[in-house]
Amino acid sequence: MPSQFALTAAYACHRSDESIIHVAGIHVLHRHPFTPFDESPPAVSVSFSAMPIPEEILPQIIGENFRHRLGAFPIEITNWLPRDAETDLTIALKKKLLASRHDEVVGFNSGGEAVAQEAALLVSQWSGVKLTSTGINALVEASLLVADDLAVLQPVNSLDGSEKLLLTAAVVCCPSRWSLAEKMGHDMLAVHAPVAKYAEHVGAAVDNYFQRITVEKPVWRSNWIIQDHPALFQPVIPQGPLLENPQDLWIRMERQTLRRLPETGGVLFTIRGFQQPLPEYLSRSKDIASNLRTLLERLPDDVAQYKSVYHYRPNILQWINQFC
Ligand code: HEM
Repeated sequence: MPSQFALTAAYACHRSDESIIHVAGIHVLHRHPFTPFDESPPAVSVSFSAMPIPEEILPQIIGENFRHRLGAFPIEITNWLPRDAETDLTIALKKKLLASRHDEVVGFNSGGEAVAQEAALLVSQWSGVKLTSTGINALVEASLLVADDLAVLQPVNSLDGSEKLLLTAAVVCCPSRWSLAEKMGHDMLAVHAPVAKYAEHVGAAVDNYFQRITVEKPVWRSNWIIQDHPALFQPVIPQGPLLENPQDLWIRMERQTLRRLPETGGVLFTIRGFQQPLPEYLSRSKDIASNLRTLLERLPDDVAQYKSVYHYRPNILQWINQFC
């Protein structure tokens, strides 16, 4: 007999929004990525169908065992922050969040005016739109020109004389279960503290790599997780599993880019979130399905826990074979 929780979830998904019931803390169960995790979706969202996640960022099998990797590849400036079928929906979500939840999506530490401004300028040059404001306001303005979230790292000399890059200015409207306020002012190791095996596998490599990122050669990388809620805006981890059946799950990926700022020496990190219902993703091809099966089988339990898939993995691995 499914738990009261699952019953409530199933009920909520299939009735008009006034019958949606809050479950599991503050998550409202819906299937619309462009509605915040704790809000009810508009009636029109019933006809929403997710754009397939771009082929070029899909996860690949590398080596024999699981390992977090830098996984950074060069990109042509012409392909830095491309538009697609969900760009306008994402920008509309940003506009709504900036108007109603500004302090949850904008982070700024004083002294970061110059790096924020320089990062904003790069995005405005890319979009061909002139900015009208300065500092963090310029970054907010620039964030509405592209679908990507913008996070700016500022170089700071630490007591031991080495240079550290600290998160100093950001407009993040699509956090994948992390809170921007908790990350502000931190270096990469601290930002990634909740990520199982990050420090062990790539901590030092990321810090060294950042010293080598150039203005001329931006790079991209991607990541993937399984999620039981499609909302792009999710700054909170739910108290427990939100769903029962693997077919109701989503796969979420981020296309991230890193670019050095010429004047301040800072780094602009951009994050673009995509999500697709898991059955639709697996139906794309047998290779895509068997790749994900292998990736899931190889995940150490602590990383599976971090990627929100530990609870669902046994059911998914049984269910996924029909797609492979
Ligand atoms: C080459 C550089 C980087 C690597 C290899 C890396 C790696 C990772 C990995 C492995 C995760 C866990 C998600 C996953 O399973 O993929 C993650 C999460 C995250 N990364 Fe990075 N990352 C990089 C750069 C950055 C930068 C520049 C930022 C700037 C803010 C950042 C912010 C975050 C945040 C906020 C999370 C979520 C942490 C949490 O759940 O609390 N990452 N990253």
